[in-house]
Amino acid sequence: MGSSSTTFLLFLLSLATLTLSQLNDVYFQHDCSDTSGNYTANRPYETNLNTIISRFATLTDFNYGFFNLSAGQSPDKVYSIALCRGDTNQDACNTCLNYTATELKQFCSRNKAATAWSQFCLVRYANRDLYGQLENDPRTCAFNPMNASNPDQFNQTLNELLNELSAEAAAGGPLRKYAAGNATVGSSQTVYATMQCTPDMDEQNCSTCLNFAINEYQSCCSTRLGCRVLRPNCVLRFETNQFYNQTAVPLPSPPPSPTTSPSPTASFSPTSPPTSMASLEFPAFGFVFALFLTLSSMLLLN
Ligand SMILES: *[C@@H]1O[C@H](CO)[C@@H](O)[C@H](O)[C@H]1NC(C)=O
Ligand SMILES: *[C@@H]1O[C@H](CO)[C@@H](O)[C@H](O)[C@H]1NC(C)=O
Ligand SMILES: *[C@@H]1O[C@H](CO)[C@@H](O)[C@H](O)[C@H]1NC(C)=O
Ligand SMILES: *[C@@H]1O[C@H](CO)[C@@H](O)[C@H](O)[C@H]1NC(C)=O
Ligand SMILES: *[C@@H]1O[C@H](CO)[C@@H](O)[C@H](O)[C@H]1NC(C)=O
Ligand SMILES: *[C@@H]1O[C@H](CO)[C@@H](O)[C@H](O)[C@H]1NC(C)=O
Ligand SMILES: *[C@@H]1O[C@H](CO)[C@@H](O)[C@H](O)[C@H]1NC(C)=O
Ligand SMILES: *[C@@H]1O[C@H](CO)[C@@H](O)[C@H](O)[C@H]1NC(C)=O
Repeated sequence: MGSSSTTFLLFLLSLATLTLSQLNDVYFQHDCSDTSGNYTANRPYETNLNTIISRFATLTDFNYGFFNLSAGQSPDKVYSIALCRGDTNQDACNTCLNYTATELKQFCSRNKAATAWSQFCLVRYANRDLYGQLENDPRTCAFNPMNASNPDQFNQTLNELLNELSAEAAAGGPLRKYAAGNATVGSSQTVYATMQCTPDMDEQNCSTCLNFAINEYQSCCSTRLGCRVLRPNCVLRFETNQFYNQTAVPLPSPPPSPTTSPSPTASFSPTSPPTSMASLEFPAFGFVFALFLTLSSMLLLN
């Protein structure tokens, strides 16, 4: 076997490793609350928390990706709020909630209250009702280290986009407060963004939360090519690749007015083939892995 094919094999191996590492959610961020107290293993608080986590794996209602759950009785009652990104369907949402809640409990193994944000969802639990409470903490910010080559233009275009999306998300109604969109920077670069509140926020509180998020992006991610601002009641994300699915599960249409009666499908027109990471990684991984196996067996036969 020539050195060029060995090099090729090494290249494939590194690709496979890269793809494997993407199977872990690199987007996972979490916070264990130090101020809400700890629970004792195998006592009712933990049992109630486990009840909530097991419900995430088996949710049968979709509810547009938002859940307000509780289990048990005071003083061991556990409350939880969970939100899936606005473009996820029920399967992706259930998978994300189960995974995120399970991981979160492992990371915060004794804390009564904790929060996690992953690629497709947000999970919070606590020993108090979280519903409708606009809160400032916990919060975090994660960014892509690459900088825009034209920072002023990038910043200006992005600000306009975020302000539009913020207004659209806040006005989204009681089922889902989510907006996604793109804008063109200069002649060739496109920036894609999503903004979302938990829909228990009213329009005013959602807007307040998203404005905080926009201010935080200014201080934490200014000039960066990608960023996620993660708060208890809202999230903001932008990237230079289209990281979201353009076709979100449609909300029920408002009561039809007698003059305009579009067909149910007319208001919902996919504009381009779906290109989320999830649809691409797995086939790509399978292909690389198959090639890797083929080449490994060639090596062994030599
Ligand atoms: C809660 O548990 C963590 C470790 O899991 C520990 O560091 C912390 O001191 C505990 N807090 C209290 C109030 O016992
Ligand atoms: C929930 O997540 C755990 C941990 O990742 C996994 O072991 C389990 O199979 C998942 N359950 C379902 C129903 O997907
Ligand atoms: C949210 O869940 C809590 C705990 O079960 C409950 O008290 C509250 O009424 C729920 N809120 C709504 C609007 O469902
Ligand atoms: C907005 O958030 C504040 C702080 O959590 C809360 O007291 C208030 O009830 C919320 N407003 C509405 C209309 O839900
Ligand atoms: C991006 O800009 C920041 C602040 O100017 C700088 O600290 C950082 O090193 C830059 N990142 C890269 C990848 O050049
Ligand atoms: C980006 O734009 C905002 C709003 O126009 C401004 O406040 C901020 O200073 C700008 N940041 C940079 C780094 O240019
Ligand atoms: C950008 O968003 C518009 C809708 O505002 C959409 O029609 C278009 O396909 C998007 N462009 C790209 C490159 O995704
Ligand atoms: C995008 O959303 C549509 C509608 O929910 C769904 O049919 C499609 O499978 C999704 N695509 C990806 C890649 O998630």
